[in-house]
Amino acid sequence: MDQRIGSLALEQALKQAMRFLASGVVVATTVHNGQRLAMAATSATSLSMDPPSMLLCVHEASAFYQALIASKDFTINILNQTHEDVSAACGGGAVGEEKFKTGNWATSTGGLPYLGDAACTIICSNDSNFKYGTHGLFVGRVMQVLQNEQFDPLIYADGHYHKLAG
Ligand SMILES: Cc1cc2nc3c(=O)[nH]c(=O)nc-3n(C[C@H](O)[C@H](O)[C@H](O)COP(=O)(O)O)c2cc1C
Repeated sequence: MDQRIGSLALEQALKQAMRFLASGVVVATTVHNGQRLAMAATSATSLSMDPPSMLLCVHEASAFYQALIASKDFTINILNQTHEDVSAACGGGAVGEEKFKTGNWATSTGGLPYLGDAACTIICSNDSNFKYGTHGLFVGRVMQVLQNEQFDPLIYADGHYHKLAG
Protein backbone atom coordinates (compact mmCIF):
# COMPACT_ATOMS: atom_id res chain seq x y z
CA MET A 1 0.00 0.00 0.00
CA ASP A 2 1.18 3.56 -0.76
CA GLN A 3 1.75 5.02 2.74
CA ARG A 4 1.73 8.62 1.42
CA ILE A 5 -1.75 8.32 -0.12
CA GLY A 6 -2.93 6.77 3.16
CA SER A 7 -1.54 9.62 5.28
CA LEU A 8 -2.95 12.33 2.96
CA ALA A 9 -6.40 10.77 3.24
CA LEU A 10 -6.04 10.71 7.01
CA GLU A 11 -4.93 14.37 7.05
CA GLN A 12 -8.01 15.34 5.02
CA ALA A 13 -10.26 13.31 7.32
CA LEU A 14 -8.76 14.97 10.40
CA LYS A 15 -9.15 18.48 8.89
CA GLN A 16 -12.78 17.64 8.11
CA ALA A 17 -13.32 16.32 11.64
CA MET A 18 -11.80 19.46 13.20
CA ARG A 19 -14.35 21.63 11.37
CA PHE A 20 -16.86 20.27 13.91
CA LEU A 21 -14.85 21.42 16.90
CA ALA A 22 -16.04 24.94 17.77
CA SER A 23 -13.35 27.00 19.53
CA GLY A 24 -12.88 30.37 21.05
CA VAL A 25 -10.35 32.56 19.26
CA VAL A 26 -7.34 34.28 20.81
CA VAL A 27 -4.63 36.58 19.60
CA ALA A 28 -1.28 35.77 21.19
CA THR A 29 1.38 38.46 21.33
CA THR A 30 5.02 38.76 22.21
CA VAL A 31 8.00 41.05 21.71
CA HIS A 32 11.28 39.95 20.17
CA ASN A 33 14.30 42.15 19.40
CA GLY A 34 12.13 45.20 20.07
CA GLN A 35 9.49 44.09 17.53
CA ARG A 36 5.87 43.42 18.43
CA LEU A 37 4.35 40.21 17.07
CA ALA A 38 0.77 38.91 17.11
CA MET A 39 -0.88 35.71 15.91
CA ALA A 40 -4.52 34.54 15.85
CA ALA A 41 -4.96 31.06 17.31
CA THR A 42 -7.62 28.52 18.19
CA SER A 43 -5.09 26.21 19.83
CA ALA A 44 -4.80 28.09 23.14
CA THR A 45 -6.15 26.19 26.12
CA SER A 46 -5.66 26.08 29.85
CA LEU A 47 -3.15 23.39 30.78
CA SER A 48 -3.18 23.22 34.57
CA MET A 49 -4.38 25.21 37.58
CA ASP A 50 -1.45 23.98 39.69
CA PRO A 51 0.53 25.82 38.59
CA PRO A 52 -1.81 28.10 36.59
CA SER A 53 -0.62 27.56 33.04
CA MET A 54 -1.65 27.80 29.39
CA LEU A 55 -0.76 25.82 26.27
CA LEU A 56 -0.36 27.39 22.81
CA CYS A 57 0.45 25.43 19.63
CA VAL A 58 2.30 27.42 16.96
CA HIS A 59 3.29 26.40 13.43
CA GLU A 60 7.04 26.40 12.87
CA ALA A 61 6.70 28.35 9.62
CA SER A 62 5.27 31.43 11.39
CA ALA A 63 7.28 34.46 12.44
CA PHE A 64 5.56 34.07 15.80
CA TYR A 65 7.19 30.67 16.33
CA GLN A 66 10.68 32.06 15.72
CA ALA A 67 9.99 34.89 18.16
CA LEU A 68 8.46 32.68 20.84
CA ILE A 69 11.42 30.29 20.84
CA ALA A 70 13.49 33.26 22.05
CA SER A 71 10.94 35.32 24.03
CA LYS A 72 10.57 35.48 27.79
CA ASP A 73 6.88 36.35 27.97
CA PHE A 74 3.72 36.28 25.89
CA THR A 75 0.08 37.24 26.21
CA ILE A 76 -3.11 35.43 25.23
CA ASN A 77 -6.01 37.75 24.42
CA ILE A 78 -9.41 36.07 24.34
CA LEU A 79 -11.45 37.71 21.58
CA ASN A 80 -15.07 38.83 21.66
CA GLN A 81 -17.55 39.45 18.84
CA THR A 82 -16.11 42.87 18.03
CA HIS A 83 -12.70 41.35 17.17
CA GLU A 84 -13.32 39.51 13.91
CA ASP A 85 -11.21 42.11 12.09
CA VAL A 86 -8.38 41.72 14.64
CA SER A 87 -8.46 37.94 14.18
CA ALA A 88 -8.38 38.36 10.39
CA ALA A 89 -5.42 40.78 10.55
CA CYS A 90 -3.46 38.60 13.01
CA GLY A 91 -4.47 35.36 11.28
CA GLY A 92 -2.74 36.03 7.99
CA GLY A 93 -4.38 39.23 6.69
CA ALA A 94 -1.50 41.48 7.73
CA VAL A 95 2.22 41.12 8.36
CA GLY A 96 4.49 42.31 11.19
CA GLU A 97 3.71 45.73 12.67
CA GLU A 98 0.77 46.11 10.21
CA LYS A 99 -1.19 43.70 12.44
CA PHE A 100 -1.35 46.39 15.15
CA LYS A 101 -3.20 48.86 12.90
CA THR A 102 -6.43 46.97 13.70
CA GLY A 103 -7.63 46.86 17.33
CA ASN A 104 -7.32 48.74 20.61
CA TRP A 105 -3.75 47.86 21.47
CA ALA A 106 -2.17 48.78 24.77
CA THR A 107 1.16 47.95 26.42
CA SER A 108 1.48 45.98 29.67
CA THR A 109 3.74 47.09 32.50
CA GLY A 110 6.14 44.37 31.29
CA GLY A 111 6.19 45.90 27.77
CA LEU A 112 3.96 43.36 26.01
CA PRO A 113 1.26 44.44 23.55
CA TYR A 114 -2.26 43.42 24.58
CA LEU A 115 -5.79 44.11 23.39
CA GLY A 116 -7.27 46.63 25.81
CA ASP A 117 -10.85 45.49 25.06
CA ALA A 118 -10.25 41.73 24.91
CA ALA A 119 -12.66 39.59 26.94
CA CYS A 120 -9.60 38.62 28.98
CA THR A 121 -5.86 38.96 28.65
CA ILE A 122 -3.68 36.26 30.17
CA ILE A 123 -0.07 37.31 30.67
CA CYS A 124 2.34 34.37 30.71
CA SER A 125 6.00 33.77 31.23
CA ASN A 126 7.33 31.43 28.57
CA ASP A 127 8.11 28.45 30.77
CA SER A 128 8.71 25.48 28.48
CA ASN A 129 8.27 24.24 24.93
CA PHE A 130 8.66 21.16 22.84
CA LYS A 131 8.30 20.32 19.18
CA TYR A 132 5.82 17.85 17.71
CA GLY A 133 5.61 17.51 13.94
CA THR A 134 5.21 20.95 12.39
CA HIS A 135 4.23 22.69 15.64
CA GLY A 136 5.83 24.05 18.77
CA LEU A 137 3.88 23.51 22.00
CA PHE A 138 4.52 26.44 24.32
CA VAL A 139 3.69 26.30 28.01
CA GLY A 140 2.98 29.68 29.57
CA ARG A 141 3.12 30.08 33.35
CA VAL A 142 0.29 32.51 34.12
CA MET A 143 1.53 35.71 35.74
CA GLN A 144 -1.54 37.95 35.53
CA VAL A 145 -5.13 37.90 34.24
CA LEU A 146 -6.86 41.09 33.07
CA GLN A 147 -10.63 40.75 32.76
CA ASN A 148 -13.41 42.73 31.14
CA GLU A 149 -17.01 42.26 32.28
CA GLN A 150 -18.76 41.53 28.97
CA PHE A 151 -19.41 37.90 27.92
CA ASP A 152 -19.64 37.82 24.13
CA PRO A 153 -17.04 35.32 22.86
CA LEU A 154 -15.95 35.02 19.23
CA ILE A 155 -16.35 31.42 18.04
CA TYR A 156 -14.59 29.72 15.12
CA ALA A 157 -15.99 26.51 13.61
CA ASP A 158 -16.48 24.97 10.15
CA GLY A 159 -14.02 27.49 8.68
CA HIS A 160 -15.80 30.66 9.83
CA TYR A 161 -16.75 32.87 12.76
CA HIS A 162 -19.96 32.36 14.73
CA LYS A 163 -21.87 33.92 17.61
CA LEU A 164 -23.16 31.94 20.56
CA ALA A 165 -26.94 31.56 20.24
CA GLY A 166 -29.14 32.90 23.02
C1 LIG B 1 -9.13 31.68 13.49
C2 LIG B 1 -7.68 31.34 13.26
C3 LIG B 1 -7.04 30.43 14.11
C4 LIG B 1 -5.70 30.09 13.95
N1 LIG B 1 -5.10 29.23 14.84
C5 LIG B 1 -3.77 28.96 14.74
C6 LIG B 1 -3.11 28.16 15.73
O1 LIG B 1 -3.71 27.70 16.70
N2 LIG B 1 -1.77 27.93 15.57
C7 LIG B 1 -1.06 28.43 14.50
O2 LIG B 1 0.15 28.19 14.41
N3 LIG B 1 -1.67 29.23 13.57
C8 LIG B 1 -2.99 29.51 13.67
N4 LIG B 1 -3.60 30.33 12.76
C9 LIG B 1 -2.81 30.88 11.65
C10 LIG B 1 -1.92 32.06 12.11
O3 LIG B 1 -2.66 33.03 12.84
C11 LIG B 1 -1.29 32.71 10.86
O4 LIG B 1 -0.51 31.74 10.19
C12 LIG B 1 -0.48 33.94 11.16
O5 LIG B 1 -0.41 34.66 9.96
C13 LIG B 1 0.93 33.69 11.63
O6 LIG B 1 1.55 34.93 11.60
P1 LIG B 1 3.12 35.18 11.46
O7 LIG B 1 3.68 34.23 10.41
O8 LIG B 1 3.20 36.61 11.04
O9 LIG B 1 3.70 34.94 12.79
C14 LIG B 1 -4.95 30.68 12.89
C15 LIG B 1 -5.58 31.61 12.03
C16 LIG B 1 -6.93 31.93 12.23
C17 LIG B 1 -7.58 32.94 11.31
